[in-house]
Amino acid sequence: MRRKTIVLGITGGIAAYKGAVLCSKLVQAGFDVHVIMTEGACKFITPLTLQTLSRNPVYTDTFDERDPSVVSHIDLADKADLIIVAPATANTIAKLATGIADDMLSTTLLAATCQVVIAPAMNVHMYNHPAVVHNLQVLAERSVMFIEPETGQLACGYVAKGRLAEPETIVAAVNDILAEDANKPLMGKRVLITAGGTVERLDPVRYLTNDSSGKMGFALAEAARDFGAEVTVVAARTSAAPPSGVAIVRAESAQDMLEAVLERFESSDLVVKAAAVADYRPIVRASSKIKKSGDRLMLELEKTTDILQTLGERKTKQFLIGFAAETGNLDHYAMDKLKRKHCDMLAANDVSEEGAGFNRDTNIIRLYDQSGLIEALPMMSKREAARRMLILAAQRMADREDREAGR
Ligand code: PMT
Repeated sequence: MRRKTIVLGITGGIAAYKGAVLCSKLVQAGFDVHVIMTEGACKFITPLTLQTLSRNPVYTDTFDERDPSVVSHIDLADKADLIIVAPATANTIAKLATGIADDMLSTTLLAATCQVVIAPAMNVHMYNHPAVVHNLQVLAERSVMFIEPETGQLACGYVAKGRLAEPETIVAAVNDILAEDANKPLMGKRVLITAGGTVERLDPVRYLTNDSSGKMGFALAEAARDFGAEVTVVAARTSAAPPSGVAIVRAESAQDMLEAVLERFESSDLVVKAAAVADYRPIVRASSKIKKSGDRLMLELEKTTDILQTLGERKTKQFLIGFAAETGNLDHYAMDKLKRKHCDMLAANDVSEEGAGFNRDTNIIRLYDQSGLIEALPMMSKREAARRMLILAAQRMADREDREAGR
């Protein structure tokens, strides 16, 4: 397991001394701790104390760039698995709530995409002030987590709520948050999934479609949701019930699906193309019902745009998973599709196999990456297959992020 990186922000309150104890306990717990101190914090405790305890350089000034190859506040924000501000003063809480970035800590917090945890410490009247209450609410709505101050003797003489939670309590909370994170490997990620079979209309009452029920795509959506992702499903014709807690966007034809997917592609981290998309559509779509005439009717079809291939050509940061529905020669066709459509991973199913393919609750999937077969899943529920696929994808996405962040 990779050692987790914690950025510890210490702000200017008397409880700053407890920040040193917290730093020491986090290091003892096995975390790689990087400390940022505000100017106020340095009045209570010295950076040298924190440098000694964390065994890492301490940051106090946004412009004190020591490594020319990185921008420190971005680098710290990128490599942090979690940022904890303890103690957090009313001032730092207000800055974070309003987006002020005027020192190393607030700038790093603004650049952070990981979980932020705030452990406030202040006088009870300050803690209950409507401005502070409002700021805490704003932050809670942005998924910032809090470790409530405790009730006890405050430095100002009051016996009331406002004392920084004990370092042991904070370390336990950090451990819990990161452990939960481990069960939610797609936490904070935006996942876009396509499901179902597209419908290509000949006239107002007739269409070409396929047997896709949407079960595979919905199982993937459910798994991604359970792994902490924000999930959108672009669904064509489906017979299965869509899962709760995911956004469903309806798209009938291959063209509708292309447009709906492209609209959301840029903001997605992971895209899974489980839909069965028509390769051809009628060139003419009659505006009224085609009348019966003669013994033969010729339908002229034209190629649809290959959505997966389009995404593969346009992808920047997105992890792209394609499917291949085959009736034999699985390895050959799977690798051809994976390479041609620039996928990061491809799930192939032989839809002629018993227990696999369309409109069933089970599937038999072989997973490939650019180097070849990575896993052959035996017959299992589509739900379990979806979980196994997404765990692999999440690991690869995390590895890629680590590489890009130089971890
Ligand atoms: O929905 P279920 O009943 O649960 O069935 C599941 C499933 C069999 C539909 C699913 O497991 C599956 O295999 N989905 C892909 C079906 C398919 O269209 O495969 P393909 O080999 O024709 O296409 C390869 C890939 O290109 C697919 O990711 C497909 O979404 C994509 N494609 C194809 C054509 C096109 N015009 N645009 C595309 O994006």
